[in-house]
Amino acid sequence: EKAEKGEITWQSPSNIALVKYWGKKQNQIPANPSISFTLSNCHSTTTLKFAEKEEASKNFDFSFYFEGKKKEEFRPKIQQFFERIENYCPYIKEYRFEIHSENSFPHSSGIASSASGMSALALCLMSLEKQIYPDTSEEFFRKKASFLARLGSGSACRSIEGGLVVWGEHPEIENSSNLFGISYPYEVAPVFKTYKDTILLVDKGEKTVSSTVGHDLMHGHPYADSRFDQANENLRKLKQILKSGDLEEFIKIVESEALSLHAMMMSSLPYFILMKPNTLEIINRIWEYRKSKNIPVCFTLDAGANVHLLYPQENESQVLEFIKNELVAYCQKGHYICDEVGIGARKL
Ligand code: PMV
Repeated sequence: EKAEKGEITWQSPSNIALVKYWGKKQNQIPANPSISFTLSNCHSTTTLKFAEKEEASKNFDFSFYFEGKKKEEFRPKIQQFFERIENYCPYIKEYRFEIHSENSFPHSSGIASSASGMSALALCLMSLEKQIYPDTSEEFFRKKASFLARLGSGSACRSIEGGLVVWGEHPEIENSSNLFGISYPYEVAPVFKTYKDTILLVDKGEKTVSSTVGHDLMHGHPYADSRFDQANENLRKLKQILKSGDLEEFIKIVESEALSLHAMMMSSLPYFILMKPNTLEIINRIWEYRKSKNIPVCFTLDAGANVHLLYPQENESQVLEFIKNELVAYCQKGHYICDEVGIGARKL
């Protein structure tokens, strides 16, 4: 029984890692476990139009449209994704696909859309699979969506579920897996359920080191093993902190993780500095503000110059004042995006 023709749309969010994934083995297996907050406002909306063909083709048959325009430059990434998932989704060559995607955030914001985009596409494929195999359970659906998303972009596997998501085996996190992300399986202090993330857009340019290149730099990196141990240890500590709600300790782990990620890039060969002068200005302002006002706001960074400001919901008005009064000056064109912990992907 087959779904001959139709279309499916999913909206899937971005996520921000607290303990960072940096370094991978074969088949998109992470070198260390990571944990992230799923975001809410930063998301991709992807529609998969499918039409069954008379005969399966030799090559993948798809076209890709971003914000209404056909985009050839995204084809290789999707081609690679299809190649990686073909064994798990043997039906894909039986279809002709049109993929239409758009982001809620400006495309040249320096915010990576691979997590939201790849998770949305993986979910669309799972919806097609469910039409082909209607017995697919809800649990299998979500696990496999995360499994497939991982093969598109590692961090994308953390964008299916909401709240906190763990990806990568850790001895003290039950059911954690290298193959897919899981909802953080323990009760957390209420403060973490509504955490805020305001993204300060310092540099909207193209990333100077793609994450593919970045992960590769961990092969043969002199500090790689210590870094992987550190990530494991930080996740272990974070487990206690998430339970107790100790924000002082939370901040230490989160900021140290961000700086360690950048330290890995600065100490690899070739080496990169992905922070900009304004990134450092912002970090110093945050430290001064936190000390003088005793408000638990901290930063994290991805593989770029933009700064994510993380803080409890109850401090929102003060922190927004701080941003407007002091930090906006360091943002490109004064741009920033207000986000918060979200509930995960949803079908439209
Ligand atoms: O998903 P990738 O391969 O683009 O890697 C992303 C890695 C970081 O964003 C820098 C950290 C993380 O865990 O999200």
